[in-house]
Amino acid sequence: MLMAKLIYNKTKQGKEIPSGEKIKNAAEEMGVLFGCEDGICGTCMIDIVSGEGNLSELTQPEKDLERDKKHRLACQCKIKKGDVVIDF
Ligand code: FES
Repeated sequence: MLMAKLIYNKTKQGKEIPSGEKIKNAAEEMGVLFGCEDGICGTCMIDIVSGEGNLSELTQPEKDLERDKKHRLACQCKIKKGDVVIDF
């Protein structure tokens, strides 16, 4: 199975995620807080330090909350490949 990696900028610790899967569980283990898990509440806002091209495209709920490629909602992102470094 092809794996990708989510990395927390502050600790440089990474978690492997199968390509194409949501980052939610790995982000939650890193300490990202979640609320609705549906792109509505904005609780799970994260900054993308690098590797934004390795994430799925912005969803409509993210656009509605004026998110962009460097500022995502962790409940909405899937990881495609490679490394993605996040901060929060
Ligand atoms: S948990 Fe509510 S927007 Fe992500």
